[in-house]
Amino acid sequence: MKILGVSGSPIKNSNTDRALHMALQATGMETEFVKLTECDIEPCLACLECLDTNECVIGDDGNKLAEKARHADGLIIAGFTPYSSIDARCKAFMERLYPLRHKYGLMQGKPGGAIVTCAIPEDCPGLPNACQNGIEAVQAYMMEEGMNFQGGVKILGNVPCLTCGYGDECATSGLKMIFGPEASLDSVGLSSFENQQEALRQVEELGANIRNVLLGG
Ligand SMILES: Cc1cc2nc3c(=O)[nH]c(=O)nc-3n(C[C@H](O)[C@H](O)[C@H](O)COP(=O)(O)O)c2cc1C
Repeated sequence: MKILGVSGSPIKNSNTDRALHMALQATGMETEFVKLTECDIEPCLACLECLDTNECVIGDDGNKLAEKARHADGLIIAGFTPYSSIDARCKAFMERLYPLRHKYGLMQGKPGGAIVTCAIPEDCPGLPNACQNGIEAVQAYMMEEGMNFQGGVKILGNVPCLTCGYGDECATSGLKMIFGPEASLDSVGLSSFENQQEALRQVEELGANIRNVLLGG
């Protein structure tokens, strides 16, 4: 049995990627990791040309990725949250799995999960619940395709202003937007997935749950 893990994070070896690798490993099964920035994938055209063929007419990597999803026994989608929604690559990937839906429901019953990294901590007054939004987007895809959603893991990542070079002086610094007017590079600091005990536990649990669904454990 094989589990496909797809990351929409553009950053090399990002928190999102490392968490996804750990979840895949926790399944104890054969796995494949796909980084969407290494693929060419456009969103769905809503042309419905895939109705009878279960294949998309767009000549990019979308059909290759859909084939991987079709032949996988489980799927984990991992993304980040620009403007507090699931990233565009993950969204395009999910849209391009639409050809697998028609007539046969080719993803039905497969266990899946979400891993989402965001910069806005949970319960930040006045700001969107970024990780929750991202997880709900993946959950909606999996629910609407009849998959067996095994849960979403929230990871605290890093606002780009921490590393852009202007974080302490920029008038629109996300640091101050998220953490308040007194926030600075030093007071916030970089977040690493490996230091987040609850996220580590949940990532392991997600992998184990996917395995249990497939092996009937
Ligand atoms: C263009 C852009 C916009 C972003 N907007 C938000 C946002 O609205 N909310 C949020 O939580 N994080 C936002 N982020 C931060 C990302 O979610 C953050 O970089 C993410 O934690 C990185 O994940 P990684 O550590 O896996 O690379 C934004 C990042 C970029 C590049």
